[in-house]
Amino acid sequence: MQQTVTLLKGDGIGPEIADAVREIIDATGAPITWEEAEAGLDCYHKHGTPLPQETLEIIKHNKVALKSPTTTPVGTGHKSVNVAIRKSLDLFANVRPAKSLPGVHTRYSNVDIWLVRENVEDTYAGIEYMQTPDVAQSLKIITRPGSEAIMRYTFEMARAMNRKRVTCVHKANIHKMSDGLFLECFREMAKEYPDLHADDIIVDNACMQLVTKPEQFDVMVLPNLYGDIVSDLCAGLIGGLGVAPGGNIGTEIAVFEAVHGSAPDIAGKGLANPTALLLSGIQMLQHIGFYEHASRIEDAMRLALVSGIKTRDLGGNASTKEFTRAIIAELPKQDDSEYHEPNPIRYSNKITTSKPKTDWKLVGTDVFVQSATLPDVPTRIGKFELQQIANRGTAVTKENAHDILLVDVFRCRYMATEDITEMDILDVLREVTSAGWKWMHVENLHNAGKNAAYSKA
Ligand code: NAI
Repeated sequence: MQQTVTLLKGDGIGPEIADAVREIIDATGAPITWEEAEAGLDCYHKHGTPLPQETLEIIKHNKVALKSPTTTPVGTGHKSVNVAIRKSLDLFANVRPAKSLPGVHTRYSNVDIWLVRENVEDTYAGIEYMQTPDVAQSLKIITRPGSEAIMRYTFEMARAMNRKRVTCVHKANIHKMSDGLFLECFREMAKEYPDLHADDIIVDNACMQLVTKPEQFDVMVLPNLYGDIVSDLCAGLIGGLGVAPGGNIGTEIAVFEAVHGSAPDIAGKGLANPTALLLSGIQMLQHIGFYEHASRIEDAMRLALVSGIKTRDLGGNASTKEFTRAIIAELPKQDDSEYHEPNPIRYSNKITTSKPKTDWKLVGTDVFVQSATLPDVPTRIGKFELQQIANRGTAVTKENAHDILLVDVFRCRYMATEDITEMDILDVLREVTSAGWKWMHVENLHNAGKNAAYSKA
């Protein structure tokens, strides 16, 4: 099965390491045809955009891409190519393997973790507001379809890679609704994969365990923000960003790239270490099902590192070309008897859709009003009663108002005393406004009692 792969050589050290990786993959005899496409700083200078539509179309057409680093100007200039690719192709999973490498000095020699980070939702949806000049709000968005997609991918990947354990990392003890939903989707999905051991851990404990006993973890799945932080922690365990690969995966399309940047300080000097991009290339080969080619490269790279042939950043004195040649020289010959049909990680057709709550019922509203002190809002409005006023999530009363630090946004919770519709909420807003209060934000509340679909804190 011939596979066409889009190659984005990027800029800075990008072209040097891209050429090295291509040469090594080609030396394995992997049936890959490369199609180069432009992206990055040079492309920006040439075409006025760092990511032309044509490049996106080529990536979409070939479905698999290997991307070398691209420079993002700080403060001015164009946006990050990585973010643009991730967003425009809806690459919802960021997969970062962290495996100890021989010859790369770190505290641990036995790390072998596949970390899957949700790549689209959470606080990264970028939905932020200044409620008043003193109060900023960032919404943490976790959805059932988004969580199901990441869980499906994680379990399918774990199975295809012969992994044994999948651990969901969360903070559902505090973020009961958002991380709670993420964890619920994990537990539901785990039932379909009885061959994999599924468990979960709170993110702070996960960090502590990772820096004390990292070998206990196998596959980990995290929401976006924790994934961002914990994936760099894992990279630190195996020698830093210079040897950290990654893949951005969507339902159809996957783009693999090194975690490090374009290293302009060493560009063009022949010093760049191609390891991280090579590991991304290995990950890409596994993704498309060429496991045998992937494992031969991995073996050869390990042998080269063990023999002491390393680039300067790893404490050696080999050039990019010398390191590349050493790996190719160590490549075991292809054993045709070992050949297996490619077994790509397939999952896109299995993503299920959301199951909305059947008893979804409007029961009240939270109106956020601006006030320097405890606001004297109406206690009864039509079908509603004022149940609570809170500030920064803490209930405020006349008694405790002087004991806690108050900011100028108060949440006034009005609960319905009879059946209501959205029209009734307008009465609340009208009355609160007529009473002279400025409001900047409203959240409707659904389902009372034990099934409350809102936070009671
Ligand atoms: P960087 O990762 O490019 O460099 C940091 C340090 O690590 C430098 O001293 C560099 O020489 C060294 N280094 C990085 N990769 C190396 C390699 N393969 N071999 C040997 N040494 C290596 O980070 P920096 O300097 O913050 O960013 C440079 C540019 O790269 C910026 O424009 C940034 O926006 C962009 N960038 C691009 C990324 C991508 O395309 N995936 C990711 C991160 C940054």
